[in-house]
Amino acid sequence: MHVLIINGSPRVKQYSNTDKILEKFTEGLTENGTTYEQYEISDKKQWDDIRNAYYANSNILIALPLYVECIPGLLMEFLETLTPKNDGTKISYLLQSGFAEGVQLRCGEEYLKKLTAYLGCEYGGTLVKGDNFSIRFFEGDMRDRVTGQYTEMGREYALNGGFDTDKCKAFTGYEVFPLHMRIMLGTIFATLGRKMFTKIARNWGCTKPIGYRPYK
Ligand SMILES: Cc1cc2nc3c(=O)[nH]c(=O)nc-3n(C[C@H](O)[C@H](O)[C@H](O)COP(=O)(O)O)c2cc1C
Repeated sequence: MHVLIINGSPRVKQYSNTDKILEKFTEGLTENGTTYEQYEISDKKQWDDIRNAYYANSNILIALPLYVECIPGLLMEFLETLTPKNDGTKISYLLQSGFAEGVQLRCGEEYLKKLTAYLGCEYGGTLVKGDNFSIRFFEGDMRDRVTGQYTEMGREYALNGGFDTDKCKAFTGYEVFPLHMRIMLGTIFATLGRKMFTKIARNWGCTKPIGYRPYK
C-alpha cells in the first residue's frame, strides 16, 4: 500500500506537533513495506504538488490539529480548491488536539465525515486523540512519551487500511474525565502548571505575566 499523508497544520513543519506525531506514526506504518509521501499545508509552495498527489492516490491520510473546535482555516482554504473524485479513494484522518478529553474532538470528527462525502471519497475513519499541547514544550524522551504511542497506530493503519478498529477507537482514552480527576487536574494547573507555563513563557521571551489582559 502507498499512502498520501497531508499534514493539515498551519504551523511550519519545524514547530508542528502534528509533524512530530507523524514521525512516530510513520515508523509503525512502514514496518511491513507500506510506503508514503508527506506534504505540509503550511507551505503554500507545495499546494500544486499536494493537489496532484490527491488526484493520483487512492489512500489518503489527512493529519490535522483541532483549531477552535474544528479544522484549521488554511487547510480549509486548500480543500476548497479540490474537486470531488468519485473513484473509490479512501480518506482517513488523524485528528489531534490540546485538550485531553475525547468529547472535545467529536464535533471536528463529525465534520470530517461530511468533508469526505463532499470530496466524493470513502471514509476510512478518524483517529481521535487529545492531550498533545505539550509536544512542542518537550524534547527527547519526554516528547517520545507523548508521540511514541502513535507508532502502534501506524501499524494498525497499515494492517487495516484505516482507523475503523476497536484498537483505534480505544486510543482516544477518556471521553470525559471523572470528577476526581477534574479536581486533581484543576489543582495541578493552578499550582505546578502555572509555574511551568510561566517558565516556558519566559524562555520564549515573554516579558509580561501569563495572566496579562491588555484589553480588559
Ligand atoms: C489557534 C489555535 C486554536 C486551537 N484550538 C483548539 C481547540 O479548540 N481545542 C483543543 O483541544 N486544542 C486547540 N488548540 C491546540 C492544538 O490543537 C494543539 O496544540 C495541536 O497539537 C497543535 O498541532 P500543530 O502544532 O501541528 O498545529 C488550538 C491551538 C491553536 C494555536
